[in-house]
Amino acid sequence: MKKFTKILALLAVLCLVLSCAACGSKDTEKLVMGTNASFPPYEFTDDAGNIVGIDAEIAAAVAEKLGKELEIKDMDFDSLLTAVQSGSIDFALAGMTVTDERKETVDFSDTYATGVQVVIVSENSAIKTVDDLQGKKIGVQTGTTGDIYCTDDYGQDMVKQYQNGALAVAALKNGQVDCVVIDNEPAKNYVKANEGLIILETEYVKEDYAAAISKDNNELLEDFNKALKELKEEGKIDEIINKYIPAE
Ligand code: ARG
Repeated sequence: MKKFTKILALLAVLCLVLSCAACGSKDTEKLVMGTNASFPPYEFTDDAGNIVGIDAEIAAAVAEKLGKELEIKDMDFDSLLTAVQSGSIDFALAGMTVTDERKETVDFSDTYATGVQVVIVSENSAIKTVDDLQGKKIGVQTGTTGDIYCTDDYGQDMVKQYQNGALAVAALKNGQVDCVVIDNEPAKNYVKANEGLIILETEYVKEDYAAAISKDNNELLEDFNKALKELKEEGKIDEIINKYIPAE
């Protein structure tokens, strides 16, 4: 009888251990997004230190549809594609422009927003249109399309790279560069936050934003596009964008 009780007790313990293992495996799977959170209104850090913005909310909505828990990692913009390739993040969502060159290293989801490269100058600048950029010092965020286009068009010597848009704008205010080339919505944010700066009316380049996903992760690409499609149809994407970019 004593032996029987012992076996029962052992069985009970075994059951507990097994059920615990089961509850452990039910932990929701993580979906890891990489971004560069100095790009308002797409991604920025709020007063509480959380990464918020259009991309963060779209990613949260996608993760919810996929039944996964979203984790956001902040990193340099020019590390994102390598991080996608190495698998240290599942996808990059960073106001990232779809380009043929980037398509050689990663896959892109369907696009969810559009951007325009614009030029920020001081109010009293001699630069009046994009045609005046020749021979001027241009500030950009390293590795962005602004960086790539300006280097192609005006030469590497004329382009000064900064780790993020805010630093490029600070350099413009200090007179270290004559202008900053950056996406229109962050530009509006920076100009609003810094007196004496304006955005030129002539636009430089129009582009599409999409999520970058590893070429080895077709399943995620398909799931991501399916979720994005549903969110578009439900009006959720417009809702998120309108929340951060109120109609003028
Ligand atoms: N659209 C530009 C690009 O792809 C700039 C994106 C910068 N994004 C950011 N989160 N800092 O190159």
